[in-house]
Amino acid sequence: MAGQVTVPDIRARKRNRGADPVVMITAYDAPFARVVDAAGVDIILVGDTLAELVLGYEDTLQVGIADLAHHVAAVCRALPRALVVGDMPWLTYHLEVSDTIRNAATLVRAGARAVKLEGGRRRIPAVRAILDAEIPVMGHLGLTPQSIHAMGGYKVQGREAMQANELRRDAEALAEVGCFAIVLEGVPDALAERVTADLDVPTIGIGAGAGCDGQVIVLHDLLGLAEGKAPRFVRRYAALGTAATDAVRAWATDVREGRYPSEAESYRASPELRQALDLPPL
Ligand code: KIV
Repeated sequence: MAGQVTVPDIRARKRNRGADPVVMITAYDAPFARVVDAAGVDIILVGDTLAELVLGYEDTLQVGIADLAHHVAAVCRALPRALVVGDMPWLTYHLEVSDTIRNAATLVRAGARAVKLEGGRRRIPAVRAILDAEIPVMGHLGLTPQSIHAMGGYKVQGREAMQANELRRDAEALAEVGCFAIVLEGVPDALAERVTADLDVPTIGIGAGAGCDGQVIVLHDLLGLAEGKAPRFVRRYAALGTAATDAVRAWATDVREGRYPSEAESYRASPELRQALDLPPL
């Protein structure tokens, strides 16, 4: 396989429209970074879904830049071939521009080679500032989980023509300012298809139908490690949560019934050591 995937590689995939979709998945630690990289994905997103899926919080609003940097560094220690993108947590790009740049740089110093942030035209000054610091930016529009309270819950966005056109303008503004790709989350398939045709940068969909230039999924959803009812766009390819509980239960039963550890799983003491420890010979 060729070298590491770069931002220009992803940007260039727009030319191949449909023929070579961008494949992006989340990962939050080194073992799973190895797993997804071995599967040949193009981009590993260290998403702020870290909050719910790994750190046990209620929503993504609970993580800060130090949490994200810690997990970006863990993913990067796996030395993936895939491009590692670090998610900018809520409130790390909404205040002073200098804080925004410093926060993006924290993720880069942790190993990310690009950052992602949510929002449209209102976020252009933040996007521009990060780009001016030579850090590539991925946009994120539609059902943006950091706006959960403003949206009144996790709801599909852009169902009405006016809202759909607003989203189109947001996407155009992000592409124009220099985002190298844009995630479209939780929008009707036709809107994603329209935005994908409008833009000269790749769109990466999640709950946005098949008309995008690529797809992203949350690893824990795909593997069956997430709790609760999955959204309709999630396809589960494994039931690792159940498999893991079954494995731990089997081990616990073996311990309780004296089957673990066996001799082969123990370090045998020499007869001399047994004698020195006042234990009978075996
Ligand atoms: O944080 C995340 O996992 C994301 C994806 C859902 C795109 O932003």
